[in-house]
Amino acid sequence: RILQVRAVPIKDGSLVLLARDVTRLRYLETVRQQFVANLSHEIRTPLAGLDLAAQTLSAQLPAEGDARLFIDRITQEAQRLADIVFNLNQLAALDAEVIAVERLPFSLDDLVGALIDRFQARAAAGRLVLRAETSAEGATAVGDRAKTDQALQNIVDNALKFTQVGEVVVTAGVDRDRVEVTVRDTGPGIPSRDLSRIFERFYKVDRSRGGLPGSGLGLSIARHLVELQGGTIVAESSGSSGTIVRIRLPRGPLTSP
Ligand SMILES: Nc1ncnc2c1ncn2[C@@H]1O[C@H](COP(=O)(O)OP(=O)(O)OP(=O)(O)O)[C@@H](O)[C@H]1O
Ligand SMILES: [Mg+2]
Repeated sequence: RILQVRAVPIKDGSLVLLARDVTRLRYLETVRQQFVANLSHEIRTPLAGLDLAAQTLSAQLPAEGDARLFIDRITQEAQRLADIVFNLNQLAALDAEVIAVERLPFSLDDLVGALIDRFQARAAAGRLVLRAETSAEGATAVGDRAKTDQALQNIVDNALKFTQVGEVVVTAGVDRDRVEVTVRDTGPGIPSRDLSRIFERFYKVDRSRGGLPGSGLGLSIARHLVELQGGTIVAESSGSSGTIVRIRLPRGPLTSP
């Protein structure tokens, strides 16, 4: 059996121990995680087949016409589904704690530069300015570069998706013993009552808002990935225009023990 024990100090200096049997709860949690992992694995194979068939068909179609529109739609929707499956799978792995975390120094400035390059074409297609502001001193973090990158991708993806006009600025800098990276946009903002909830799984602010695609998983994954490294993530917004998402990580370089 699995027992969860809590010690509560009481006035006379003694402790009260509370034991709770969580065997069944843990079992159900494992079943749920395995279910998600299996399901996303099963979906991936037919999805890859669908995508390949659409691509083959696409190569044989004329450049214009209804058939082209529909085949492009099939490819886009297959990609969206693949993204959702990737996110679900990632969450299942994070839940099951099977993900290894690195703790190595890496340059936050380099990471931000590479990130901006990767998203530049998409920003231009949406007529948005995407730029970096890095500090003169050079920000080095200690943590997991790939996980930080993935978290930031999810945040920049949001900024570009929800912003209609204006710009998305990614900053990197140092704040005492931490490094900080922020993603700031000129989008619609997030009402204060929703700010603390957007990091929850499947949470979307006003699902009807513009009908923008997304399953509400990106930020919950980002939070997981940042917290695994001992970092923090918060969102700030005036509620009606612009959002800032702020990540803080331990600062490098590592001092030898
Ligand atoms: N930069 C932003 N501007 C305005 N609203 C935002 C912004 N970032 C997040 N949100 C709100 O927070 C919600 C949760 O974001 P999250 O990234 O978790 O989900 P999503 O983008 O809807 O879906 P997914 O990331 O899984 O594709 C979004 O649906 C949106 O309502
Ligand atoms: Mg998102």
